[in-house]
Amino acid sequence: MSKSLKTVLKEKNLCPVCHIKKAMASTKIHVDGADRFNNGTALTPPMGWASWNAFRNNINEDIIKEMAAAMKAAHLDELGYIYVNVDDCWMSSVRDENGRLQGDLGTFPSGIKALVEAVNSYGLKMGIYTSNGTFTCEDLPSSLYHERTDAETFAEWGVEYFKYDFCHNEPIPTGAPEIEKVLISRKGEKEFITLLAEDAELRGDAMLLHDEKIMHSKYIAGLSNGAGCAIFYDIDSPEDGEFILTLGIRKAVKKDQYCEIIVNGKETYSLRIPGAKGLPRAGRNQTTVFLKKGKNTLLIHNPIASRMDSAARQYQNMGKELMRATKKVSQETGKPEKPICFSICEWGWNRPWKWGHTAGNLWRTTPDIIPKWHSIIGIYEATVRLYDYAGPGNWNDPDMLEVGNGDLTDNENIAHFSLWCMLAAPLILGNDIRKFLKEDGTVDFNNKVLKIISNKKAIAINQDKLGIQCRRVKTNGLTDVLVKPLENREIAVCLLNKTNSPKDISFNIKDLTRLNFVNLPESDRYAVCDIWDNTTFVAGNEISQQVGGHSVKLYKIQSME
Ligand code: GLA
Repeated sequence: MSKSLKTVLKEKNLCPVCHIKKAMASTKIHVDGADRFNNGTALTPPMGWASWNAFRNNINEDIIKEMAAAMKAAHLDELGYIYVNVDDCWMSSVRDENGRLQGDLGTFPSGIKALVEAVNSYGLKMGIYTSNGTFTCEDLPSSLYHERTDAETFAEWGVEYFKYDFCHNEPIPTGAPEIEKVLISRKGEKEFITLLAEDAELRGDAMLLHDEKIMHSKYIAGLSNGAGCAIFYDIDSPEDGEFILTLGIRKAVKKDQYCEIIVNGKETYSLRIPGAKGLPRAGRNQTTVFLKKGKNTLLIHNPIASRMDSAARQYQNMGKELMRATKKVSQETGKPEKPICFSICEWGWNRPWKWGHTAGNLWRTTPDIIPKWHSIIGIYEATVRLYDYAGPGNWNDPDMLEVGNGDLTDNENIAHFSLWCMLAAPLILGNDIRKFLKEDGTVDFNNKVLKIISNKKAIAINQDKLGIQCRRVKTNGLTDVLVKPLENREIAVCLLNKTNSPKDISFNIKDLTRLNFVNLPESDRYAVCDIWDNTTFVAGNEISQQVGGHSVKLYKIQSME
């Protein structure tokens, strides 16, 4: 019996509307072919330092260089902390004469390229920041609508980490223009192909309308909200090359519109169309498209049906531009490509864990952290349930570390660091690294904060190659037991006491071996390493432990036979 078209589309994970691959069941966004953003970076959670938590808007090039020098002196690079990330406020409020971002002319006078070289000279990698909006959160120039230029600028500077914020964002309109015709021409020539509305195959809600009072020809409507698409087949091109595509549309009064044109199922070109002030309602919108010699297909739609689609598409765009830019720079210079680790900072507003893996390497799960216990626990609570979305190359980001900042106690610092290790979170330090230096400039290796962030066994749990985020396996609301599977059939277990008085927490190792996501062989004896006491003991099945207020116990466990 032959299968229905609907069944075939479902089996092949193709969109019932446009018959192109659906990457995410939960949005109408079509992620062209490649689902997972994979630029080869962040195969384990990225580690480094960033300027925001300690310095806010008070940064300059000397602070960044001093931080790189202090990181090197404290051997933090050897532990994996390799990124030196300049957050907001590095840029001048004016772009240069070529429309490029430039360092603040007063506080970064040597320019960002020179700063990248300075950071690289310590064997460290430089990170940079802008916003997926018209300005950054500190109201400085940003990258929305400048994606290609800015990605190329960062790649040319040799930047290797990019945090992309969400302030001053302008969502992509969900409305699509009504299309009367499509003209295709070579640059500098009149059109050689005219496609009329009635030439298109229409799918979903797309329909052909005719309003004789206003227009004299037919037009395609119903392409809004990812609900329909128009396809033009058999567009003959005499050669491979770039052509000008002009959409003849009916403008909407005071309503911005958007559409995407997919050529041959591969390249996507987007058009933003501003709302008309009033009549006339006929508009022209152009883009350059690449056509291959012979027959070509154009699919026109607006896949944006929600704020989540909009955010996903805008971050995907930047991710693609970053990949394109680093490749281009490598081809032009003949030097090895320096991929840019792409950090999505969208504060969890549009559920970035659902689409972040199609756009970048990590995505913030919540609004900003502050150095207070309630903030750390609140962020932990929001992130601990997102274990399904994290994995090598693409991580949940509960924000930069506050270890060593504010009035956090030693126990709170240890708990904060341990939780981030268990969550397979990026370990981006947020403290002033120069505080690890003594007056004579040498490093105080007894500094308590330095000792916490340098705990190799804790870092190894975070950096475990399996890249599995912990799961909460037991909770009474006040205390939690977390389990993180590790390589070599081992596990990490964290006992968390969220309250401010000591609590007894217990767990049964045999029960843990039976969890379907755990690969610890069942045994009668286990070697248990206490990560913060740096001791190892042999345990049977039951472990019961008193854990102090705002504290954790962190263990690594292996079976003894
Ligand atoms: C937002 C981000 C922070 C920081 C600031 C900079 O609030 O979430 O991490 O980058 O902007 O202005």
